[in-house]
Amino acid sequence: MTPPPGARLTAAGETVVVAGSAVDLARRAAAFLDARISMALIRNGQAVLALSGGSTPEMTYRCLAGYRPDAASLALLQVDERLVSAGDPRSNGAMIRRAWGGRVPLLPMIPAENPLPAPGRLAAAYAHTLDRVAPARCLGVPVVDLCILGLGEDGHTASLFPGSPALAERSRWVVPVAGPAAPAGGSPQVPRLTLTLPVLDAARCLVFLVQGGAKAGVVRQVLQGKDDLLPAARLVRRARRAVWFLDTAAAVGLSL
Ligand code: 6PG
Repeated sequence: MTPPPGARLTAAGETVVVAGSAVDLARRAAAFLDARISMALIRNGQAVLALSGGSTPEMTYRCLAGYRPDAASLALLQVDERLVSAGDPRSNGAMIRRAWGGRVPLLPMIPAENPLPAPGRLAAAYAHTLDRVAPARCLGVPVVDLCILGLGEDGHTASLFPGSPALAERSRWVVPVAGPAAPAGGSPQVPRLTLTLPVLDAARCLVFLVQGGAKAGVVRQVLQGKDDLLPAARLVRRARRAVWFLDTAAAVGLSL
């Protein structure tokens, strides 16, 4: 994998880009994603992305809003979604559409139905969507080209929270989960759907977007610690195909 400009390696071999500001982080991440999407289109004729919600990725998605490959070649999936209506301000899908622009070919986890179907049915339906739009397989698991992830202060990523039974899931690709047990750095305490570790692990490239001093401690724990209990650490130890875009505040104390 060609590292992005300015990338440095941690002692454990993780690729890290330290940006000077939130805008610089978004621009650098968007440029990297643009290049990787183009590479996937050339190699495979399509690019399959899985997008996280939260707040950090919004600026990066805005930087990609001008990206307009024909919709047939770009599949935008969700990494996770809060079980709220599509119009709810906590909806990750609403944030992605707002940031990337109205014509974004997002395949939402939550349909615009009212009332919402049962979480188990929503999860099964999204697994079918994943099966349909991501034809490549790794050990029977759909392979997405790029998986954009955030990091919670408690070490969660996607909606895989510390201690969640979903962390042990090895056969289902999408599962319903409870929200964080305690307020986790602004991540709402609502039930969710999330891709599971096997799907995240199979991705060709994991792109973490993390900003703010409140995350510096957990970034060090995940990138330099020995603690494999944190969900993000478990994923990073296994995948070895991650690129981290941090702002200077989130990178404090990191040995590069
Ligand atoms: C969610 C997100 C979540 C997010 C982290 C970081 O639905 O809450 O997918 O996993 O990525 O909580 O969120 P911020 O980027 O807002 O700090």
